[in-house]
Amino acid sequence: MTRVNRQAKEPIAIFGAGWVGLVTGACFAELGHEVTIRDIVPERIERLRAGEVPFFEPGLGELLERNADRLTFTLDAGEAAVAAELVFICVDTPPTYSGDADLSRVWTVIDELPQLERRTILVMKSTVPVGTGEKVRAALEGRGLSHIGYVSNPEFLAEGGAVEDFMHPDRVVIGAFADADGDRIAALYMEMDAPVVRGDVASAEMTKLAANAFLTTRISFINEIANVCELIGADVELVARGVGLDHRLGPHFLRAGIGWGGSCFGKDVSALKQLAGNSGYQFQLLSAVIEVNELQKRRVVQKLQKHLGRLRGKTVALLGLSFKPNTDDMRDAPSLVLASRLLAEGAEVRAYDPAAKPHELLRGVALCSSALEAVDSADAAVIVTEWDEFRSFASPAIRDAMRRPLIIDGRNLLDPDATRAAGFDYEGIGRASSPLAAFAETEERDTELAE
Ligand SMILES: NC(=O)c1ccc[n+]([C@@H]2O[C@H](COP(=O)([O-])OP(=O)(O)OC[C@H]3O[C@@H](n4cnc5c(N)ncnc54)[C@H](O)[C@@H]3O)[C@@H](O)[C@H]2O)c1
Repeated sequence: MTRVNRQAKEPIAIFGAGWVGLVTGACFAELGHEVTIRDIVPERIERLRAGEVPFFEPGLGELLERNADRLTFTLDAGEAAVAAELVFICVDTPPTYSGDADLSRVWTVIDELPQLERRTILVMKSTVPVGTGEKVRAALEGRGLSHIGYVSNPEFLAEGGAVEDFMHPDRVVIGAFADADGDRIAALYMEMDAPVVRGDVASAEMTKLAANAFLTTRISFINEIANVCELIGADVELVARGVGLDHRLGPHFLRAGIGWGGSCFGKDVSALKQLAGNSGYQFQLLSAVIEVNELQKRRVVQKLQKHLGRLRGKTVALLGLSFKPNTDDMRDAPSLVLASRLLAEGAEVRAYDPAAKPHELLRGVALCSSALEAVDSADAAVIVTEWDEFRSFASPAIRDAMRRPLIIDGRNLLDPDATRAAGFDYEGIGRASSPLAAFAETEERDTELAE
């Protein structure tokens, strides 16, 4: 694809060369802007200058390469800010011990801004608690930078499809203190032909938190439906399809599985819950959404025990480690909880992921270079991440390599009948077609059934 030659546009600075910052920078360069991307990690900047992409994200490498002449990478905050008319903050906002968002990196950026002469606009893409914009404005005034504008423009991209999401957003949300600043940011997205939701800063900040909270609520909801389906002999895949065809509900985020993970969902839901609590409101629904997800990650262990008995000395192969397919991001991945639970039960754990690299929290897990190597003499295989290549997992070669051909499909990726016909024992999540799936998993009920 050849790049469209566009007329010069406002120069942009990006603070933070992570998923959001790099994708934002590369996409604005593609749209014709000169972009300076600043990070504080020297190795990251060096790699970017050498043309390397520091993480796996489809399409990002090509975009960076194609627009190399419009992209500058630097460690120098002043150089980045002075060159730009619009400064995007894309730094990480991880959770603190209390579950609130840690804004220390945001405050560092504000402190690092040089004495800018022109009316630069600071644009917040990082996910921040409601009220952050007001605090940033006060901080700017305190630094004699009250002429700097501030706009909240939360990012909704999802890793694995981030470039596509940025270029074709469902909507663009813009909250500004001054209409003229909002207009300038809205103009950046004009070519994208997406609805633009304009309003005040607090509502824009809240929109991002509410969207992520609602997405996780849908996942925890369908996972609870799946768990009930297992008890009553219904199939959650059919249920979700029937529910999702209702135009009032829609089909998205109704995939039952072993729970959500990633760097955003957990921290944003927790940040919204804390934000509500700090403001005097107990957001009880979100407490349940979080709790359901924690339990869901552990249900695979119970399923394995149902088939294998005690897991001590058994070999379990994990297929997929990243928190979702098409990324190597391991932040808050359900695989980390699952692996540590299995190790605690005394199982030998092997794992294969097409992109994720060894992770400090996977100590004790043997990382393999293929699915076949991971399942060699294994007592069970668990599909943890729905990478496309696992769709053909139920093959004769895999079956023959396993000591016991048991698949626990944590993402309902495989067809149960075809998998069984291929000679595997199969159990998914909330799928009644499993002969064991309709059995309750509590000891009491197991005893009842045995009597
Ligand atoms: N990753 C996603 O899918 C996603 C989607 C939407 C929104 N967000 C939000 O966007 C923000 C960034 O997320 P991310 O996943 O890109 O984070 P990330 O951890 O991948 O990247 C953040 C980058 O900021 C850099 N940084 C820290 N302090 C800096 C400073 N003072 N100056 C310049 N760079 C600095 C870090 O070194 C790091 O490279 C977070 O608030 C996140 O919640 C993330």
